[in-house]
Amino acid sequence: MAEISAAKPASGFGSTLRRDAWWIENLPFIIVLSAFGIYTTWRAFEGTYYWATPYLSPFYSPLIDPQHHWWPFSPAILILGGPLGFRLTCYYYRKAYYRGFFLDPPACAVGEGGHRKYKGETAFPFILQNVHRYFFYIAVIFVAFLWYDAIVAFDFGGKFGIGVGTLVMLVNIILLTIYTFSCHSLRSLVGGKLDCFSCATLGVPRHSAWQGVTKLNEHHMFWAWVSMIAVGLTDLYIRLVASGAIKDIRLL
Ligand code: FES
Repeated sequence: MAEISAAKPASGFGSTLRRDAWWIENLPFIIVLSAFGIYTTWRAFEGTYYWATPYLSPFYSPLIDPQHHWWPFSPAILILGGPLGFRLTCYYYRKAYYRGFFLDPPACAVGEGGHRKYKGETAFPFILQNVHRYFFYIAVIFVAFLWYDAIVAFDFGGKFGIGVGTLVMLVNIILLTIYTFSCHSLRSLVGGKLDCFSCATLGVPRHSAWQGVTKLNEHHMFWAWVSMIAVGLTDLYIRLVASGAIKDIRLL
């Protein structure tokens, strides 16, 4: 018969009865997100090497006032808030950075220390995380622009063509689309909040849509990771081509 310990865990930061290396799961997130944050900040403020005909960096799309008629700084700054807000308020990223950066708590069943009253996301400032569903609508607009850019990436001076950059942009937007449409907010929107599909307006198509989103949503964390890495690498590739560091290979 299993023996159940009645020992009460000591309170305080890092106190736990867990015997596994619980802190390891935070490391990849801390390393990758820090690197991504530093790189995107640098690229957003750099303001150059974002266009290598016919490729446009996803960090600069949609491209607004590239000639600096009224905006003297990097065009990326004008649009950064949309995708950044979407990721920052994403349910998966919230869990990850609350654990990895705020250590609040550092992991499941691990003490966070202090004697603060737990308010979760019901009080300022974290109650603002509830704007995520609105960032979802904004993200859909960005996805549409990036699909347009991916289609333009087949246009080599009026002629159809495929370069390595075309494929890079295509893979990037496919991954971003899956990440966006695997969102928890979308799942709730299409049917997650319903108790009875057959009683609801458009119940049958909503049920099918809900099933589709649920399938994607099951792996939301995976899509969050791969789409983040893909968008960073896509920008890097276009920057290297635009700066002349590498040459884009034309496949067709
Ligand atoms: S929950 Fe992650 S994008 Fe909406």
